[in-house]
Parts: sequence; C-alpha cells; structure tokens
Amino acid sequence: MMEYVWLKNHILPKSDAYVHFDDRGYYFGDGIYEVIRIYNHQPFLLDAHMERFARSAHELDMPLPYSLSSIKDKTKELITKNDINNGYVYIQMTRGEQPRDHLYSRDITPVMTGFTKKREDGSTQKEGISLWTTKDIRWLRCDIKTINLLGNVMAKRQAEDHACQEALLHRDGIVTEGSSSNIFMVKRGVLYTHPANHYILNGITRQYTIAQAKQLDICVNETAFSLEQLQEADEVFATSTSLEVTPVHQIKGDIDMKIKTGPVTEQLQQGFSFSC
Ligand code: PDD
Repeated sequence: MMEYVWLKNHILPKSDAYVHFDDRGYYFGDGIYEVIRIYNHQPFLLDAHMERFARSAHELDMPLPYSLSSIKDKTKELITKNDINNGYVYIQMTRGEQPRDHLYSRDITPVMTGFTKKREDGSTQKEGISLWTTKDIRWLRCDIKTINLLGNVMAKRQAEDHACQEALLHRDGIVTEGSSSNIFMVKRGVLYTHPANHYILNGITRQYTIAQAKQLDICVNETAFSLEQLQEADEVFATSTSLEVTPVHQIKGDIDMKIKTGPVTEQLQQGFSFSC
C-alpha cells in the first residue's frame, strides 16, 4: 500500500516528498515535534499533544503556520489516508528554510512534516524493561519537545550497548527521566516522579498516568528522588506514548537492582486497555 506523508500544506506519496537543503532542522536541529498514539483509528489525547506543540513553538519563538485546529485536522487526515488502526503519528515543525546562519530570521515560514507508523504488537508492557543509568548531559530546557535530541540519542545507544532498553538519566544522582520516557517509582503505595520543570519533558502519558492515579486514590508526589532512594523502591515503571505504562525489572550501571511488577503498576496499566 502507498505510504502518504505530510509536507507543508499537502498530504502526498512519500516517494514525492522532498525537503529543502537549507531547512534549519538539518543545520541546527531547529524544530519541534510530537508523537501521538493511535488507537482504533483515533489519535489519543490529541488536544494535550497539540497544546504542548503550541507551547514548544511559543518557547522557541516560532510562529505556527496554520491554526491549531487545522493542524489537528491534517493530523487526522494523514491517519485516515494511511488507514492506521493501531500505531503512531509523528508531526514535526522546523523553523523554516534559510541559508545557514545562527541568527534566525523571523520572516521565514515554518515547515510542517508528518508520517504515520503501524504498531507491531510487542510484549514489552508485560515483560518489562531494563534501565541503564547515565549522566543527564542535556541542556536546561528539556521541557521543550525539540528535535535537537543528541543527549537523548547518545544515552539510548549507551543503554542498548549494555543490553538495556532504556536509559535512566540523572543529574548528580537525582533521577530526571528516561531518554524517551518519564520514570516513576512506588514506595509504600505512594507514587513519586520528577516535577514538571525545565529538567524533564512533561510527558502526555505522565500527565494521563498521574490523573488516573488520583482517580484511583493513589497518592502522587511530584518530587524528585535520588538513585539511592530508587534502590529502596517497591515498584518502578516508565511512561511514554509508545511504552504506555511499562514496568522496569532491572536497573544497571551506577546502581544494580532487580524488581518485579507490582500492584500499582498493574492498576495503572489498566488505563491503556484499548482493543484495536
Ligand atoms: N518520547 N521524556 C522524553 C525525553 C521523551 O522523549 C518522551 C517521549 C517522554 C514521554 O512523553 P509522552 O508521554 O508525551 O510520549 C518523556 C517520544 C515518544 C519520542 O521521542 O519518540
């Protein structure tokens, strides 16, 4: 089946889609993005993703080339065109096309692109994942969902090189988040996760999970914890658009621990039982 992508204001076959040599995304990683889960042909938590997209644009002084509602419509159109039942839609916006110059012009038009991906059903949510601890060397605006992800991709590679599926980032021993996920721990029935500030991306799945926990009367404490405190955790899990709520079964590197899926994690996983 033909794969369609979104480029500027058009949805067109991927084989016909080309981006400009001078796109600032290539020179500077000067752009933002969102990854949105699709269940039953519908983008999940689309409004929340769009709000974060608009916020990222605002924080980076990028104008939106179209209204948020037309960006939402285009996102849905792409999902329909590619007939995605269970998968993801990726949308990206770079600042635009300009001969290489650190000083960005305010007279260029941002470039939107997007694609979809089918989800291959895996067993990660059941089997759990391992984390590799590594220093968080990223800049201090991790709250912005920028395509400039070198700190994240270096950490992910390190994790894989140590037979772990995800990296656990820490600043001076304080856990921030994963390379592409948020991290939670449970201690005596209380859920702990790093507060939503400039050190982490405020994941949409993180926000959804916290809301679910509150509905279930699980006490939530948005307070940072150390690697030392993590070693005492009863349960640990990671959240993201693709991981949903995934239990962590092993942590290696600066600390060494094994842990089982617990009842709080299992309860929160119920929030994602959509049949596709
Ligand atoms: N990553 N923290 C970081 C650094 C991330 O890159 C992500 C998501 C998250 C979780 O955010 P959300 O719940 O909104 O997916 C936290 C996406 C999925 C990615 O880059 O592919």
